[in-house]
Amino acid sequence: MATALVTGSNRGIGLEFCRQYADAGWKVLACCRRPEQASDLQGLAIHHPSVSIHQLDLGNFDQIDALAHAQASETIDVLINNAGIYGDSGRNVLGALDYELWARVLKINAEAPVKMTEAFLPHVSRSERKLVVAITSLMGSMADNSSGGAIMYRTSKAALNAAMKSLAIDLKPRGVGVMILHPGWVKTDMGGSNAPTSPAESVAGMRRTIEGFALRDSGRFLDFRGRELPW
Ligand SMILES: NC(=O)c1ccc[n+]([C@@H]2O[C@H](COP(=O)([O-])OP(=O)(O)OC[C@H]3O[C@@H](n4cnc5c(N)ncnc54)[C@H](OP(=O)(O)O)[C@@H]3O)[C@@H](O)[C@H]2O)c1
Repeated sequence: MATALVTGSNRGIGLEFCRQYADAGWKVLACCRRPEQASDLQGLAIHHPSVSIHQLDLGNFDQIDALAHAQASETIDVLINNAGIYGDSGRNVLGALDYELWARVLKINAEAPVKMTEAFLPHVSRSERKLVVAITSLMGSMADNSSGGAIMYRTSKAALNAAMKSLAIDLKPRGVGVMILHPGWVKTDMGGSNAPTSPAESVAGMRRTIEGFALRDSGRFLDFRGRELPW
């Protein structure tokens, strides 16, 4: 049985990853900040005993180390760094920038996925698939930025992309792959109701892209359909 660890698993894209991998017969380590409030995830775990729920706030790096330690005997085939925050859009423009919030967005979106990779590298390295996935955004692309704004979010995803590109190079000799995936514009709390893509469609596409991964693809910037994106 293959194993996936998913961060931000209580709603949105993360919950859908857990649902689809559980349906496919995978073991799922579902991490979220408040398991006691994660009713949809709890419902999933009741129907799928292979889903276990783990408390994890990505702003607390000691918690990341503690969870990695507690799961020391586990192997993780695919580590999915999904959790992310946008930053309050009203305070995300010049003249009203909230620098403390910006630091928090950088920590959760860019530093935490690197810390997760560092802490869980032994678990991933022992597995069959040996794959780290970063759920990024096309909004982290310089080449694609034609509308400006969203400084906190854009810089955090650009930093995530740069970090993951380096990890792809650094981890290749160990046979560990890194995928940098844009999920599309997805109907979730973050994406909003006008988004054209459902979480089910986005995650099905990303799972297909993950299935098709070969180590030579490590560090590529792809969307949920497997199409190459501009940096
Ligand atoms: N939706 C889109 O259109 C879209 C487009 C491009 C990229 N993305 C990326 O896709 C990923 C998932 O987004 P989504 O649309 O599913 O967003 P969402 O519905 O807002 O869900 C965000 C998830 O991240 C979790 N999270 C936030 N801060 C956390 C922390 N400190 N520790 C642990 N978990 C934390 C949230 O948990 P709580 O419930 O505890 O807050 C929630 O589970 C994000 O990285 C996002 O940037 C989304």
